[in-house]
Amino acid sequence: MRARGVVQPPGDKSISHRVLMLAALARGKSELTGLLTGADVKSSARVLRQLGAELGSIRESTVQVSGARLTAPGARLNCGNSGTTARLMLGVLAGQKFAATLTGDASLRRRPMRRVTEPLKEMGADIEVRGDGLPLTIRGGGLRGLTYTSPVASAQVKSAILFAGLTGGVAVTIREPYRSRDHTERLFAHLGLGIHERNGAISYQPSAVSIPAFELAVPGDPSSAAFLVAAAVLAQTGELVIENVGVNPTRIGFLVVLERMGAHVERVNLRDAGGEPVADLVVRPAHLTATEVTAAEIPTLVDEVPVLAVLASRARGATVFRDVGELRVKESNRLELVAANLRAVGARAEARGNDLHVEGSEKPPRGRVVTASDHRLAMAFAVLGSVGGADVRLSEKKSVAISYPNFFRDLKRCFA
Ligand code: S3P
Repeated sequence: MRARGVVQPPGDKSISHRVLMLAALARGKSELTGLLTGADVKSSARVLRQLGAELGSIRESTVQVSGARLTAPGARLNCGNSGTTARLMLGVLAGQKFAATLTGDASLRRRPMRRVTEPLKEMGADIEVRGDGLPLTIRGGGLRGLTYTSPVASAQVKSAILFAGLTGGVAVTIREPYRSRDHTERLFAHLGLGIHERNGAISYQPSAVSIPAFELAVPGDPSSAAFLVAAAVLAQTGELVIENVGVNPTRIGFLVVLERMGAHVERVNLRDAGGEPVADLVVRPAHLTATEVTAAEIPTLVDEVPVLAVLASRARGATVFRDVGELRVKESNRLELVAANLRAVGARAEARGNDLHVEGSEKPPRGRVVTASDHRLAMAFAVLGSVGGADVRLSEKKSVAISYPNFFRDLKRCFA
């Protein structure tokens, strides 16, 4: 297989959710470009419309959002497959004096929400929940400030609390075991909202000013680019240029680990977009060697573990990912499914406790993979199916629409 051409990954999913929510809360008309057009971002847009914000249809080109005082929804807020929509909107809703019920698809309804509802309850939000998941009803307003140490390094938990501080007009401070992605903090800073970091603790201090309307270009998603990078590294010859990729240090553990495994990904044209560092990546094929991915690195590559595990299955030696228990509660049980699917195509892989072990091999991968409708499993194993002699069949491909609607088109175009 040969890598060739120039490609742009879709807009960053995490940033797209956040800018839509902030624009919906801002005073006046905001203009957003480069948004992800995937199903998850459409879920956030739909929910915000139900709450009274005016949003154009979600396109990569300019989308206008007229912020408004949010109003009680007439129906349940369906967050689809999107954990980020559900958890961040809980924070947004914590500051609103009305009741709203959130729900989602079968995968989302299984995912833990207590990690967010507990701190929001401590702030004074009234939340009715059966068990740990959706559906749940939140009635916000009348919040008090919070200083919170999160047991998990989760940007969704951190961002929910920051959004609650913002909409509730109260001060919050959050500590987390390892630094998770910091897009919310960067956007708050970019908009002049009172955000500070001291010794790893993130604090928001409310100020009298309302959120100004803004213009922002969303950079390409490094988590989506990771699949293209991986396919280019596994190619036999050629070179792939991936333009306009976010290279925020809290997101690019994937590149750090890949370089340790022997690949070299050049970053050129480094620039800033709305407070986020952005670059073009130049990727060439490489021979990989195994590595140990540490617990501290996991938050910087949490969504890239499936594709890194796929790369580890083609590396020399045995790779271990430490402390990846969080993968059990993603869109699917990614920890068990990555291991089981690697075994299904003839590789050796195993989850032991909270660690994932993967042995490298040169044998062509052959077999049927169960994606469980998880977009990142579908894309990771499609990449594995691109190596010479492979015959990897996916149980479904539609799930890529969650975060990378044109994934198969781009894969076909860039790899011959
Ligand atoms: C996200 C945070 C991560 C990540 C998810 C998006 C975000 O989840 O897996 O895809 O946008 O804040 P956790 O906060 O649960 O780690």
